[in-house]
Amino acid sequence: MPQSWIAPSILSADFASLGAEVDAVLEAGADLIHFDVMDNHYVPNLTIGPLVCEALRRHGVKAPIDVHLMVRPVDRIVPDFAAAGATYISFHPEASEHIDRTISLIREHGCCPGLVFNPATPLDYLDYTLELIDLVLIMSVNPGFAGQQFIPTSLRKLADARARIAASGREVRLEIDGGIKVSNIRAAARAGADTFVAGSAIFGSPDYAQTIREMRAQIDGSAQGAR
Ligand code: DX5
Ligand code: ZN
Repeated sequence: MPQSWIAPSILSADFASLGAEVDAVLEAGADLIHFDVMDNHYVPNLTIGPLVCEALRRHGVKAPIDVHLMVRPVDRIVPDFAAAGATYISFHPEASEHIDRTISLIREHGCCPGLVFNPATPLDYLDYTLELIDLVLIMSVNPGFAGQQFIPTSLRKLADARARIAASGREVRLEIDGGIKVSNIRAAARAGADTFVAGSAIFGSPDYAQTIREMRAQIDGSAQGAR
């Protein structure tokens, strides 16, 4: 299994102090920054775009930026995010007219492509794409808002995705996003996740470092339990 990564979602950060919030969470031990892009069209909420990603890079953020696109259309905005310093760019297959083309576009612009699966979306989209992508993102809430309840069927989907990744023999990150907290992160790790998005659980806590430490302890515990 690859090393586990903690990815705080800045959706729950204090946007009036975003640079300082990102510095604080990286200082507290985060591995990458999860960047939720919503368009009030594909999802019923509106957040941030490439300008904010670029501002974080200009602020001095060196950590990988994990852009989660919840937008339709997808392709128009991909080059802008690549130019703004995105590392991973993930999208929802339902939001793209031509999934293979969008994956190539992300790759051609020097970023790592990912596919995102809503709670009721089957993994079939991976049949002919898994060899082309670097990240599979399993949504454990319906996309659009922070602070929602974890949907338990996501654990079964994580296990199915982990089996597909193992069979492929490729290094593909398996990320879980939505409702992750200290109390359920171990179950997600056991089911096969290696990258853990957490918004409200980290930014809503009084001590980011303590929360991230507790999350890592839970993940490590899951590995020991499996041996
Ligand atoms: C939901 C977003 C998530 C969200 C997670 O549409 O994709 O990344 O910010 O927030 P929490 O961890 O609070 O569920
Ligand atoms: Zn997200």
